[in-house]
Amino acid sequence: MDPLVVLFCLLPLYPGLAAAAPSCPQNVNISGGTFTLSHGWTPGSLLTYSCPQGSYPSPASRLCKSNGQWQTPRSTRMIKAVCKPVRCPAPVSFEHGMYTPRLGSHPVGGNLSFECEDGFTLRGSSVRQCRPNGLWDGETAVCDNGAGHCPNPGISLGAVRTGSRFGLGDKVSYRCSSNLVLTGSAERECQSNGVWSGTEPICRQPYSYDFPEDVAPALGTSLSHVLGATNPTQKKKGSLGRKIQIQRSGHLNLYLLLDASQSVSEDNFLTFRDSASLMVDRIFSFEINVSVAIITFASQPKIIMSVLNDNSRDVTEVINSLDNVNYKDHENGTGTNTHEALNSVYIMMNNQMQRLGMETKAWQEIRHVIILLTDGKSNMGGSPKPAVDNIREILNINQKRNDYLDIYAIGVGKLDVDWRELNELASKKDGERHAFILQDTRALYQVFEHMLDVSKLTDTICGVGNMSANASNQERTPWHVTIKPKSQETCRGALISDQWVLTAAHCFRNAQNHSLWRVSVGDPDSQWGKEFLIEKVVISLGFDVFAKKNQGIPEFYGDDIALLKLAQKVKMSTHARPICLPCTVEANLALRRPQRSTCQDHETELLNKLSVPAHFVALNGSKLNINLKMGTEWTSCIQVISQDKTTFPNLTDVREVVTDQFLCSGSQEDDNPCKGESGGAVFLERRFRFFQVGLVSWGLYNPCAGATDKNSRKKAPRGKVPPPRDFHINLFRLQPWLRQHLKDVLNFLPL
Ligand SMILES: *[C@@H]1O[C@H](CO)[C@@H](O)[C@H](O)[C@H]1NC(C)=O
Ligand SMILES: *[C@@H]1O[C@H](CO)[C@@H](O)[C@H](O)[C@H]1NC(C)=O
Ligand SMILES: *[C@@H]1O[C@H](CO)[C@@H](O)[C@H](O)[C@H]1NC(C)=O
Ligand SMILES: *[C@@H]1O[C@H](CO)[C@@H](O)[C@H](O)[C@H]1NC(C)=O
Ligand SMILES: *[C@@H]1O[C@H](CO)[C@@H](O)[C@H](O)[C@H]1NC(C)=O
Ligand SMILES: *[C@@H]1O[C@H](CO)[C@@H](O)[C@H](O)[C@H]1NC(C)=O
Ligand SMILES: *[C@@H]1O[C@H](CO)[C@@H](O)[C@H](O)[C@H]1NC(C)=O
Ligand SMILES: *[C@@H]1O[C@H](CO)[C@@H](O)[C@H](O)[C@H]1NC(C)=O
Ligand SMILES: *[C@@H]1O[C@H](CO)[C@@H](O)[C@H](O)[C@H]1NC(C)=O
Ligand SMILES: [Mg+2]
Repeated sequence: MDPLVVLFCLLPLYPGLAAAAPSCPQNVNISGGTFTLSHGWTPGSLLTYSCPQGSYPSPASRLCKSNGQWQTPRSTRMIKAVCKPVRCPAPVSFEHGMYTPRLGSHPVGGNLSFECEDGFTLRGSSVRQCRPNGLWDGETAVCDNGAGHCPNPGISLGAVRTGSRFGLGDKVSYRCSSNLVLTGSAERECQSNGVWSGTEPICRQPYSYDFPEDVAPALGTSLSHVLGATNPTQKKKGSLGRKIQIQRSGHLNLYLLLDASQSVSEDNFLTFRDSASLMVDRIFSFEINVSVAIITFASQPKIIMSVLNDNSRDVTEVINSLDNVNYKDHENGTGTNTHEALNSVYIMMNNQMQRLGMETKAWQEIRHVIILLTDGKSNMGGSPKPAVDNIREILNINQKRNDYLDIYAIGVGKLDVDWRELNELASKKDGERHAFILQDTRALYQVFEHMLDVSKLTDTICGVGNMSANASNQERTPWHVTIKPKSQETCRGALISDQWVLTAAHCFRNAQNHSLWRVSVGDPDSQWGKEFLIEKVVISLGFDVFAKKNQGIPEFYGDDIALLKLAQKVKMSTHARPICLPCTVEANLALRRPQRSTCQDHETELLNKLSVPAHFVALNGSKLNINLKMGTEWTSCIQVISQDKTTFPNLTDVREVVTDQFLCSGSQEDDNPCKGESGGAVFLERRFRFFQVGLVSWGLYNPCAGATDKNSRKKAPRGKVPPPRDFHINLFRLQPWLRQHLKDVLNFLPL
């Protein structure tokens, strides 16, 4: 189609261009839901409905036409909008078995059970449950007798299959019943390796979206070569992970393409922008060499930031430019030209290649990741595939260079997505899925965390944890270690380099012979766990639990700090990495602060509020929440010591017990550390990195007293006297000691 023609069709939709445009009627309420308007009641305004989870709006949106009438995307008749309950599709047929119950479609929460006839074995899930997004959990149930060259490909729920021979070269094809939309491959062929080509077709409700946990496994298998250009001869290896490689070597170009066309609406565009900001901030947090291009597009692309610009390597500049992207930049051409947007990436690549030289390492070692944030409704410029083919060609993508290009198509927000178009846009390479629709920025962030592969990041970069809700505890807090004498566990600690552990001095009170102690690093319940011997123990000489006994203070925990040097270096992995210690050059990089920053600057930045959210790690490995009280709140936080007449009967000044070496937490909603959690890091997150500001020392209440297992802790009863309080060694107050013992291990900033 000639793009100009489309442009002219769209122009009159805009306010200001049509003289004295009428406004659209306001009788558009939706029962049980809400709606937003992109430009009020004026022509060109897009109305988007939304409904609570488990229901969906019908229609999803309306467009105010130039004649002051509402138009809905799939019909012109004015119908009252309603929130309808989400339903999951029913099986159309099920071979060699039975299923119950037999309904036309299934409500959210409903189950479907499958059973096979004698002689057939059930593969997939025997019970599936309908989820609030209209998709079934689990996998397609198939009754197979293993007779074919390829396994029986099954019939996904809601689909009809043609073809029932599963020999080499046999083909099967699928379509969806009623108004369901097919995503995946409509046709599959049994290949010589005994695997069906393409991806399983899924029949989706047009309104369905993905949950992050569904997308994550698909990401594990691959996301390359989106948008066509598949290579049918290429064999699929089972666990060929195709993620964004985070690694020190080479350079990464990340191209973020934000759809600003009319079908997307300004609200969703802003969601795209926020999602892009989050991805940019996260990708820069690994201190890798990365350049980010930002392109917004509708009828025409607009380059906001080019990889040719030096600022594209600077996170602050990139985020600033993202903050300034404007939906209205595209007000004079509101179509969706995905082809032209991808072509602008191609041109950018071409220019960079000219600049660096085609044969140079600098050019050839750049890995390229393109992320399209869109609703998939490309309606101009023709198929995007030629642009992708050009990109593949200029990057010389072949089997050996597969790692050098990834393209993702993601919809995020309350979008009226065209699944058919999005499916067209995405390739259906063997076993891969490339197009996703997510409900909000948070869901996208969860998915993005799974798109990143940090397994090649094997240097001692500090404070890098996995932010995914689905990651294991150890992946989320890889610095966390357990310190134990021969068998029984006693204390926790934190890796602060590849060979040093920071912990509490009181852990060593009754320890005579350190050669019997072990430090368990990585997840002790997995292949990642490893026990280390201790080469050297450095206990603060200032630590003396009985130092103030004759002042009526039976136990005193000042200088409760110790360092352990492990007998060997720890190999860095996703399960074992140091945390960042403030006041070091390493932490300064992680905080992205100017080079000349001081220790004081770090304290100001990290402990900047009266109540600072922080965490510690529980006995079972989960991350618990506390609030560190600062300034005047600190003074009242420690004051409750005076209510503990049993322990401190004759106390005149609480600051004799809680000196300014201690951070204070434990009030109200805070979790309280248990006895065995002493020595563990008290840490907080900034810019997707983790910083240890304290270490767990002592407290007034032990929530694990009398607990039967590691997973239960008892909250202190309300009104308990004294109320719970926890005190943590403040690492900013022990700088001289840390510097004395770690001067050859870490690079400290001036105080
Ligand atoms: C639509 O709903 C709003 C609030 O629920 C109400 O104020 C308004 O009168 C309703 N409009 C119509 C046309 O029903
Ligand atoms: C479906 O199965 C799940 C788990 O087996 C169960 O919790 C749920 O109550 C079942 N739903 C219905 C509607 O029976
Ligand atoms: C997420 O966690 C669940 C439960 O531990 C697991 O079954 C699932 O495979 C995980 N998903 C991913 C993508 O890791
Ligand atoms: C990263 O970029 C910097 C400057 O742009 C360069 O000096 C350095 O060598 C690069 N590192 C790698 C691993 O390419
Ligand atoms: C759109 O066109 C109008 C009229 O020609 C012009 O004034 C306006 O600046 C244009 N907007 C943009 C973003 O180019
Ligand atoms: C986080 O953990 C998940 C699950 O193990 C993994 O798939 C993902 O790549 C990890 N991401 C990062 C950034 O570590
Ligand atoms: C500590 O124990 C080891 C092994 O039991 C023993 O060889 C060593 O002599 C002991 N050291 C001290 C100081 O007791
Ligand atoms: C507290 O003071 C009383 C009286 O001065 C004395 O008898 C008692 O031993 C003191 N208690 C402690 C723990 O020092
Ligand atoms: C771990 O323990 C905490 C409290 O001690 C508890 O809230 C959490 O549910 C436990 N995690 C698991 C997986 O049991
Ligand atoms: Mg569009």
